[in-house]
Amino acid sequence: NQLRQEANECKKCELHATRTNVVFGTGNENADLMFIGEAPGYNEDQQGRPFVGAAGKLLERLLASIGLSRESVFITNMVKCRPPNNRDPFPVEISSCGRYLDEQIRLINPKMIIPLGRHALSKWFPNETIGKVRARPRYVENRIIFPLYHPAAALHNPNLRQTIEQDFLKAG
Ligand code: URA
Ligand code: SF4
Repeated sequence: NQLRQEANECKKCELHATRTNVVFGTGNENADLMFIGEAPGYNEDQQGRPFVGAAGKLLERLLASIGLSRESVFITNMVKCRPPNNRDPFPVEISSCGRYLDEQIRLINPKMIIPLGRHALSKWFPNETIGKVRARPRYVENRIIFPLYHPAAALHNPNLRQTIEQDFLKAG
């Protein structure tokens, strides 16, 4: 709660100037499983909650396919404030915001982390591509890192959609 409070007042990078709400993260603070997306979009910025738009609806359906609800896991993003016009977050923004994410991981202490898409992947495996390493579990510091495609990528691509559905079953 203290960390959330700090983030809510954060001005460590330029994204603070254009945000409506800080999107710290939601879910079970004792979760075994944590999802890390890229950045808040329009709906997330408006509501202050991650994955509440179209990609979030897909994420919820994928979670349901392995018997999980969004309340049973923890969901957050690489950066906690929305980049203008949904542009990619800049490296300096990802590094400015990194302490919040690192503290969230330390405090929640999940057994498995699912980085969604290439931005989150790059936190652990900066030189690898999501298409090659998706759905391959690896141990990093006693945690399983299990990268998956970003649900937004699967929304309009039937092939990716099928892949992410199968990968989720494997994650389950
Ligand atoms: N995409 C993301 O990466 N994060 C969100 O919170 C919503 C969409
Ligand atoms: Fe602070 Fe992160 Fe928001 Fe930048 S994106 S202002 S570092 S909370």
